[in-house]
Amino acid sequence: MRVLVTDISELVTNDPEADDLLGVCHDAAFIAEDGIVAWVGPASEAAAQPVDQVVRARGRAVIPGFVDSHSHPLFAGDRSEEFAARMAGSEYSAGGIRSTVEATRRASDQELEDNLTRLIAQAEHSGTTTLEIKSGYGLTVDDELRQLDIAVRYSPETTLMAAHVVPPEYAEDPDGYVDLIIDRLIPAAAERGVRWIDVFCERGAFTEEQTDRLLTAGAQAGLLPRLHANQLTAGGALKLAAAHGAASADHATFASDEDLAALAAAGTVATLLPSIEFSTRQPYPDARRYFAAGVTVAIASDCNPGSGFSSSLPFCIAIAVRDMHFTVEQALWAATAGGAAALRRTDIGRLTPGARADFAVLDAPGYRYLAYRPGVQQIAQVYRAGSLIAA
Ligand code: NIG
Ligand code: FE
Repeated sequence: MRVLVTDISELVTNDPEADDLLGVCHDAAFIAEDGIVAWVGPASEAAAQPVDQVVRARGRAVIPGFVDSHSHPLFAGDRSEEFAARMAGSEYSAGGIRSTVEATRRASDQELEDNLTRLIAQAEHSGTTTLEIKSGYGLTVDDELRQLDIAVRYSPETTLMAAHVVPPEYAEDPDGYVDLIIDRLIPAAAERGVRWIDVFCERGAFTEEQTDRLLTAGAQAGLLPRLHANQLTAGGALKLAAAHGAASADHATFASDEDLAALAAAGTVATLLPSIEFSTRQPYPDARRYFAAGVTVAIASDCNPGSGFSSSLPFCIAIAVRDMHFTVEQALWAATAGGAAALRRTDIGRLTPGARADFAVLDAPGYRYLAYRPGVQQIAQVYRAGSLIAA
């Protein structure tokens, strides 16, 4: 099956060989063969190619689908009141996680799955074509495993995050909970084909020493490390992520020059989460420092019921440009190719031969409109592997 996508005013390819960051082509076209990009070139040369189907962008822009490398969409319950209270002046603390844990434990598998599929559909309508999914609102062996059993059916990018907070049953014995994760959950997650392990390394959650044990045990079982690091305080979590060769250190809100140098040297991506600072009123990190230090930067949603409930990467891009000093180009790259780098993938986040044909047709003549028209739905159609998934 060969699909020609043509009549594109501005095609963002993220071709790493291009002279500009986004590999932008004007008046472009491309062909997807069995879901994989087979050819990219000028629209004038496309007419000569034999194809089974033609998608016309009608003079609009086409970008790679967003790669959202950080989300917590498996949960039940409602924390809108907590959000409203925070906006009225109370401060964010991760304590609210426990209320989601209670609701999630009470929910049936069907409820969890229905909530997940609704959130995935919303993300797809915002242009997301890859979504990483974390567990972490169960915090018992059975409740974490049922989340993972659901997650692996919807995404190959699944993450064991049983180390989100210490559950109340282990309040007096946090190391006992770490042992439980190591002895029971890590092997079971690996058996289920879960790809990643993540830890909330933060005061009030897990210590650096506990995080170190968890990541080491995860790696021994084949789970690759990523980390929630320096979200609320300037601890040692970023350096720890680098020391473990983590694919990504996420939040990274508080980062010293030394932390950034460590990430750059280790090739650990810093995944910034604009919606979290937006929804917690924490200070926005200044992306210019990360770029100047040579760090690869991704942008992800962190969609979760507590610290930020947006699944929209266009929204995150708009904030990143307005308040975090990304250029429009850096922000779009970070939400596509950057997300792919944070997941150690080279087959997504770009539209070059050999990549999966995941793309969004914008209802706009150029990619800059994503930041230029914040809050306006400009994602017209979304395709994964050459097939329409949202319109
Ligand atoms: O990524 N930092 C910890 N976990 C989530 C928040 C989860 C919650 O508040 O429910 C985060 O921000
Ligand atoms: Fe998170």
